[in-house]
Amino acid sequence: MKTTATITAVAGYVPDYILSNSELEKLVPTTSEWIETRTGIKERRILKGKGLGTSDMCVEAINLLLKKRGIAATEIDMIIVATVTPDFVFPATSNVVCDKVGATNAWGYDLSAACSGFVFGLVTGAQFIETGKYKKVIVVGADKMSAILDYTDRSTCIIFGDGAGAVLLEPNTEGYGVIDSILGVDGSGRKYLHQKAGGSVKPPSHETVDAKEHFVFQDGQPVFKRAVVGMADVSAEIMKNNNLKSEDINWLVPHQANKRIIDVTAERMGLPSEKVMLNIQRYGNTTAGTIPLCLWDYENQLKKGDNVIISTFGAGFTWGAVYVKWGYDSK
Ligand code: UT7
Repeated sequence: MKTTATITAVAGYVPDYILSNSELEKLVPTTSEWIETRTGIKERRILKGKGLGTSDMCVEAINLLLKKRGIAATEIDMIIVATVTPDFVFPATSNVVCDKVGATNAWGYDLSAACSGFVFGLVTGAQFIETGKYKKVIVVGADKMSAILDYTDRSTCIIFGDGAGAVLLEPNTEGYGVIDSILGVDGSGRKYLHQKAGGSVKPPSHETVDAKEHFVFQDGQPVFKRAVVGMADVSAEIMKNNNLKSEDINWLVPHQANKRIIDVTAERMGLPSEKVMLNIQRYGNTTAGTIPLCLWDYENQLKKGDNVIISTFGAGFTWGAVYVKWGYDSK
């Protein structure tokens, strides 16, 4: 049988500090009720502490991952870090992470696909296993969204939070792991959700800081409209391509941007809420972190052989769905 890349361990990390909806009520003109009914979010985590960045959350998640799998950091071949909040523009956060966890035999890179970052990373990492090139690849989805949020802008600061999730990919010859995927981008959607300055088009300056152009800009409604259709479409498409009926699917692992988007996707797939992983109420939208954090939260309910559909839609626009046959029962 051909070699597939299967997930053999999952771990995550969320910072201790809880930013509740009621605390946000004190920062911006909003209400807990509005946030909860429009998004499903009750609270989110914020990484506090000077000098701490996305890599520090990756390190926590990876150290737990290695411990759970019972392997040393030196056994890792590669670490892909999906993030839009890297520690630095360069070097890559992956470099920093390899150093901090002691993965001295690994190489890696950062992957920028916003909310679809983990899905793009999972598919990319799987290629290195499928070709036989590597035996142990870690894919981390992590974002410190609080670093790029304007806590006077109620349209964005209520949505996002900080967190990291990681999976270990290893070869399998029994048909488990990443079975199929669909990925897509539409760069014309970039105008609706982006960071205006800080890149080569508009390098940082006093003016860009004064104009708050280093914060997340989002025109929520057009993003919502595209995301609702896009995430449902790509999920239905991967089911069709793999002859999967609703009853064949054990779990949907949706990107956690807005509970209303998740509900529409689940409905389109014909799935009851018990089959839908959901943690947006506790963590908000952690961008590249949402999907591996869901896998981490629900790991003990996953069974070997479960048909799992991971699906996402995010800034860029970027989107994707992955069909995974889950490879282990958790202990
Ligand atoms: O993960 C990356 C991809 N991102 C997404 O998928 C996010 C997609 N977008 C969304 O989830 C939603 O568009 C938001 C949650 C961002 C906004 O929800 P919405 O239902 O689309 O609200 P809206 O922007 O249409 O605004 C409706 C009303 C407006 O007031 P008026 O004009 O009707 O008087 C807003 O000013 O709600 C107001 N509003 C708020 N009110 C209280 C907007 N934000 C808030 C707020 N608190 N935080």
